[in-house]
Amino acid sequence: MTHDLKPLVCFPKEYFEGFAVLQRCGFDERFLPQHQKTLMDTFDNFVFCGKTDYTLRVLAVGTADGTSDIQIIDTLDSKYSSILYVVVEPADSQVQKFQTLVQSKQEDGLWKNVKFDFHPITIEEYLGKTKSGKEPGGFDIIHLQHCAYHFADIEGTTVELYGRLNTGGMLCVLHVIGAWMELALHFGNIMPDSMSSQVESLTLLERLQHRIPDVKMQTQHRKISVKADECFKENSEDGNMMLNFIMQLLDFRKTAPPEVVVDFMKFFKELCYEEDSELYLPADDEIITIIKV
Ligand SMILES: C[S@@+](CC[C@H](N)C(=O)[O-])C[C@H]1O[C@@H](n2cnc3c(N)ncnc32)[C@H](O)[C@@H]1O
Repeated sequence: MTHDLKPLVCFPKEYFEGFAVLQRCGFDERFLPQHQKTLMDTFDNFVFCGKTDYTLRVLAVGTADGTSDIQIIDTLDSKYSSILYVVVEPADSQVQKFQTLVQSKQEDGLWKNVKFDFHPITIEEYLGKTKSGKEPGGFDIIHLQHCAYHFADIEGTTVELYGRLNTGGMLCVLHVIGAWMELALHFGNIMPDSMSSQVESLTLLERLQHRIPDVKMQTQHRKISVKADECFKENSEDGNMMLNFIMQLLDFRKTAPPEVVVDFMKFFKELCYEEDSELYLPADDEIITIIKV
């Protein structure tokens, strides 16, 4: 590893620019009804302790600007008369966008029964702050959508979150498992700081089964593809931003050793499939649902 490799997550502006390109190139297709049905069914079928006339307590982690929460909140809002929705997201700019989203929904007469509580900090900080039971009551739902890769200790934090659930509560973890993860596996040793957590996320399921005996766990698989042509054009701004996001490095092409970049691009191309003369990276994700026993 060279000194010049900088983890993208330390540069919020560039991180969210890269994420935006990835979303535009197909990752946002996860919000289309055919992909989102599986996830929404999970939330729709969840009835906490058989009660809906109850203040449901939800913890949403790593939400970014709240786009990935909209359908979840809509689904829960249609079922529960009262919801406390606690948001833990360390990027200030994203928390502000989420707050603007809430304001505009409420101005439109929606989400009136949802009380939001925003925490612009990491989940590690939040768990530390609320350790001594300062947060009254546990949570009925905790969800982590594509953010666990960034936790310093994925397994430990996920197990701790499970511990914060009320009995009968649901922990829902979404993570990428497709070819994208093969990149992490293949290049994790070369760039450990930026990729090791992604590799760890691959084995999360087995490790959770080991850590939480007799756990009631279910997994569902969604097929998602990201258009990757731009990544192979050396001077494409979008392509480079997307590569940075995939590798979780700032200026991957410029700062990684040239031989690594060549090796990476070759491996990346082999993982892509071609359709209508366009290249796509399979970025399937997995939904892990765990019910607290
Ligand atoms: C790939 S984005 C996913 C955003 C959104 N959930 C989605 O699915 O579109 C990952 C998010 O995790 C947040 N994040 C990074 N480190 C975190 C941590 N330690 N605790 C909580 N969130 C974190 C980032 O700021 C970012 O908003």
